[in-house]
Amino acid sequence: MSKAFSVLVTGGAGYIGSHSVLALLDAGWDVVVLDNLVTGFSWAIDDRASFVEGSVEDMALTARIIADHNIGAILHFAGSVVVPESVTDPLKYYRNNTAASRALIESAVVGGVRHFIFSSTAATYGEPEAIPVQESAPTVPINPYGRSKLMTEQMLQDISAAHPMNHAALRYFNVAGADPEGRSGQSTDGATHLIKVAVEAATGKRDHVAIFGTDFDTADGTGVRDYIHVSDLAAAHVAALDKLVEDPARSYILNCGYGRGFSVSEVLDAVDRITNAPIERRIEGRRAGDPAALVADNSAILDTLRWTPQRDDIDLIVADAMAWERKLAEKRT
Ligand code: UFG
Repeated sequence: MSKAFSVLVTGGAGYIGSHSVLALLDAGWDVVVLDNLVTGFSWAIDDRASFVEGSVEDMALTARIIADHNIGAILHFAGSVVVPESVTDPLKYYRNNTAASRALIESAVVGGVRHFIFSSTAATYGEPEAIPVQESAPTVPINPYGRSKLMTEQMLQDISAAHPMNHAALRYFNVAGADPEGRSGQSTDGATHLIKVAVEAATGKRDHVAIFGTDFDTADGTGVRDYIHVSDLAAAHVAALDKLVEDPARSYILNCGYGRGFSVSEVLDAVDRITNAPIERRIEGRRAGDPAALVADNSAILDTLRWTPQRDDIDLIVADAMAWERKLAEKRT
């Protein structure tokens, strides 16, 4: 059955965006991707989607796409995502994440777009007082990245109150893994995320993995995070879109995680299990600004959306990340 409108996906050539494009297409949506290809890859965009190369800041362009393609919903992934860089270059983050989002939301309101889904982050919480963290916990981000995203959430709340556009702000925890069918994965160079770094070490792209701190107040002393498989996260976006369409008067802020934490050592154990060849671990000092533990209370998303995680298993996440990394390694040779 064909849908009443098409969906615009900004950042659809990026890691989470490209997986969400696959999930939307697989669910029968018509998709238009807008991406400036600064960090994304055109090959990551499925052929079934239309592609426009350009910036979300270009309001003439976004107005035209919205009108020409009968866009009824926007999934907004485009933005900058490197926390330490946000500290040294905050203007980049307030431009790419906050100002660009404002421009896109204005085009959406003027163009009559009814639904907006925003890539937010657990970084909006800063260092939460209680774990697992609920959506109602105080939002006190500790870096410009988190603040740049929180400001967009706040804009969306005001705009949904003033205009007929509802929204979902999805607060991602630690996203990892790759499409189980091998259609996309995390492909940017210079990775800093633990699972990506570990699978790069396992394929010989690095010679070791650093453990940033063994003196945290956690069971084994290493940092604990809630790792969510990127395909489950992509499915959550499709479910959120269904919900926004079903109940156009309501908007949502939802944590996206499995509600369960794994320590750095446990993640590296999983990588060793999958590859059957231990990677070298080197203990280093804590990285600035790393909280000891960050785990989602995911009861809101489970209660609100028709969403059941399919790949809530650290070995599966690592195995999918590993399979993608092997593909990338083949491409390089
Ligand atoms: N870690 C290591 N070695 C590495 C990389 C990471 O020990 O080489 C540790 C970190 O110290 C941390 C855990 O692994 O304990 C996870 O670190 P990541 O860099 O993979 O992810 P973060 O938790 O730092 O970052 C994630 C998101 C950010 C978001 C942040 C919110 O990727 O976008 O959570 O706190 F801002």
